[in-house]
Formats: sequence, C-alpha cells, structure tokens
Amino acid sequence: MPYSNDKIKVLIVDDLSENLRALDAILRAPDRVIIQARSGLEALELLLEHDFALAMVDVEMPEMDGFQLAELMRGTEKTKHVPIVFVTAAGMELNYAFKGYGAGAVDVLYKPLDINAVKSKANVFVELFRHRTAFENQVRALEESRKEQECLLQQLQATQAELQHSLNMREEFMSLVAHEMRTPLNTLFLEVQVRLSQLAKNNLSIFTPEHLQKMLDRSERQLKSMMRLIEDMLDVSRIKNGKLSIQPQGANLSLLVRQLAEDLTPLAKESEVEFVLQIDSEIEGHWDAFRIEQIIINLLTNAVRYGKGKPVHVSLAMEGEHAVIKVADQGVGIAEHEQKKIFEAFERSGDNEVKAGLGLGLYISRKLAEAHAGEISVVSQKNHGSTFILRLPLKSVAA
Ligand SMILES: Nc1ncnc2c1ncn2[C@@H]1O[C@H](COP(=O)(O)OP(=O)(O)OP(=O)(O)O)[C@@H](O)[C@H]1O
Ligand SMILES: [Mg+2]
Repeated sequence: MPYSNDKIKVLIVDDLSENLRALDAILRAPDRVIIQARSGLEALELLLEHDFALAMVDVEMPEMDGFQLAELMRGTEKTKHVPIVFVTAAGMELNYAFKGYGAGAVDVLYKPLDINAVKSKANVFVELFRHRTAFENQVRALEESRKEQECLLQQLQATQAELQHSLNMREEFMSLVAHEMRTPLNTLFLEVQVRLSQLAKNNLSIFTPEHLQKMLDRSERQLKSMMRLIEDMLDVSRIKNGKLSIQPQGANLSLLVRQLAEDLTPLAKESEVEFVLQIDSEIEGHWDAFRIEQIIINLLTNAVRYGKGKPVHVSLAMEGEHAVIKVADQGVGIAEHEQKKIFEAFERSGDNEVKAGLGLGLYISRKLAEAHAGEISVVSQKNHGSTFILRLPLKSVAA
C-alpha cells in the first residue's frame, strides 16, 4: 500500500478489527497516516518498511503478544527507536514487561480508552517525531553545506597553489629571459667596442676579409640566438591567444631533415656529438616547412644539449599514412614523471644537471605538431637516453 512520504505514520496493532477501527478513528488527523496491523508479525513487517512516529500495541494478542513484539523491535536497528504505547486491560500486571525497555520511550494506556488521553499521548509522540525529523534534516543539511565548503576550500587552495606556481614561474622566467638575452648581447657589445677602439686608433689592417667574415659569423650567431628567443616568446603568446597558424604547402621532408642535420653539425661538433642519419628518400607531403623545421631544430638541439656527447640517431620513415621522425640520443634521459611535464610551457626537467634554454621548445613543438594534426612523444629512461618521435600525417589540415 503506498503512503505519502510527507505524512507522519502511526502504527496500531491489535488482533481485533473493531479495536483497530476505534483507535483509527481517535488518532486520525490530516497530517497523519494510520497504518493497521492485525498481528505482531504483520506489525514487524510494516515496521521494517516504514518510519513510524509511534506504535500503539495491544498487549493481549494470540501467537505474539505486545511484549514479545516490543522485544523483537528492540533487537533491530531500524525499529528499536520507535516509541511504543501499550494498550491493555486495566489492572494488568505490567512491571515485568518493562525490564530492558528503559532506553526506549514506552507508555501504557488502559482500557476502556479515554479518548482524550489517547489523543494527547499520540500528539506528544507525533510532535516529538516531527521535531526529531526536522532536526535530522537540519543536521544533514549542515553536514552537506560543510562538505560543500570543504570542497570549495580545497578548490580555493588548489587555485592558490596554481597561482603561486605561475607567479614563481613568471619570476623565474623573467630572470631566465634576462640571462639568455644578456649573454649574446654582451658578446656583441664587446665585439663592437673592440672594433670601435681599433677604428679610433686607425688600426684598419686588422679588418682583413677572413677576420671580417669570422667576426660577422659570430655576430650573426648571437643575433640569431636572440631572435630565436624572441620568436619563441612570441610563439607562446600566439599559442595562448589561439593565433598560432600554419601554412601547409608541398614539402620534401627527406631533404629538410637532411639539410637541418647538416646545418646543425657545427653546433653538434662543439659538444662532440655526431648525427647518424637514416633517412628514407622522397618523403613528401603537405606541411608548413618553416614550422616543421622549428620542431626538428628543437629536437636536434635538445639531443645535442642533453646527449652527453654521444652519437644522436636521426631517422625518417613512413609508417602507414604518417611520416615519422625519430631523434634518439644516449644522454641524460628523462624520468617517467617528468615526461609529460616537459611538453608544457616553461617546464624544464627538474633533476637535470644541464640547465639551458627557457623550456619553451617542446611546448611550441607539440603545439606545432598538433596544428599539423600530428603528435610528438617521448620514450626515455633516466640516464639511458631519450627518443623523441614526431608523427605527421602526409596531408595536414591547415589549423
Ligand atoms: N633529449 C633530451 N634529453 C633529456 N632531457 C630533455 C631532452 N629534451 C628535452 N629535455 C628536457 O625537457 C625540458 C624541456 O625541453 P625544451 O626543449 O622545451 O626546453 P629547453 O631545451 O630547456 O629550452 P628551449 O628549447 O626553450 O631553449 C628540457 O629543459 C630538458 O630538461
Ligand atoms: Mg629545447
């Protein structure tokens, strides 16, 4: 039998239906549902199913009497707090029955029933139940709002930590940029000073073509490294503003990789690194060659920088619909927990003895690879070298 949930339920138990009818009539009220049980067993079943504000139990019943029912109720978690009002014939000896019931609310009504006494007793228990339910709801709501607050607090703390992290990063970044710019600038500045003083002394014999060539090469290198730095920083802000775009055109990747390895060989030599190439010929596709160049240069410079002077293997081959470039060094390697981080902006693996660069290269490379609908990944083990893998679909959709 379905009962509306917002009404308070009262259980009446009696083996005689006329008694049930009479009690029902006395207890009936708009905010209540009176549920009847004809036996102790039926009452128990109902007690397990519903939350009752009160059970009015006839003491004298066949099979299970009111006391036995009460005993069973006290033994079950769900029913043990339901207040019981026994209904019994006047003059019955009740003392023994109360043993062990001390904890629960128990009361007695004597037949013949005094209508007002029954009503007011029932009202007391119903009110009690109403208050208890309201109180429980409040406690539950409080607990919920406490949990919500805790959750908010955690979010706040996380945001604060993130903010602090990016503030620290910013600080570190500023000093890194300053440092990275100062080195080439200092060199250039000194060079210019020296030449100016030679000019001032009219010491022109020093400006031979070979000398000039060397001097200009050096200056070009310093300027290029500053330009790259600035370009990287601009790329990062383009990425952050969603303005990084690529212009794919027909390009020959085999030629490109070969050419870049050759261009970077002098730099590699400075670190005693040798490039070992295995490049399948004529891999052609639709890419922004300038941007792909940027990725490969970064992978090669990283391999040289972190390669401990050991040979770097560079390969290019087709795998299905993808051109795959692998740059494998045998250097310092990257710990597992760092492997995801290094593709983020300004992240440089923490436990590297080699500290150079701004930590932008791989971040930009990943974004460029993604703009080509490709991907870049790393396989590495601490102290056992790293292999960076760039996979590019032959035809990339312009982002
Ligand atoms: N081949 C590699 N072996 C070991 N660690 C590497 C390798 N390549 C990159 N890393 C680690 O990943 C970090 C991020 O590389 P990324 O190229 O983004 O920055 P960077 O080389 O430090 O600076 P930038 O490229 O901006 O000049 C590096 O600082 C380094 O700790
Ligand atoms: Mg780099």
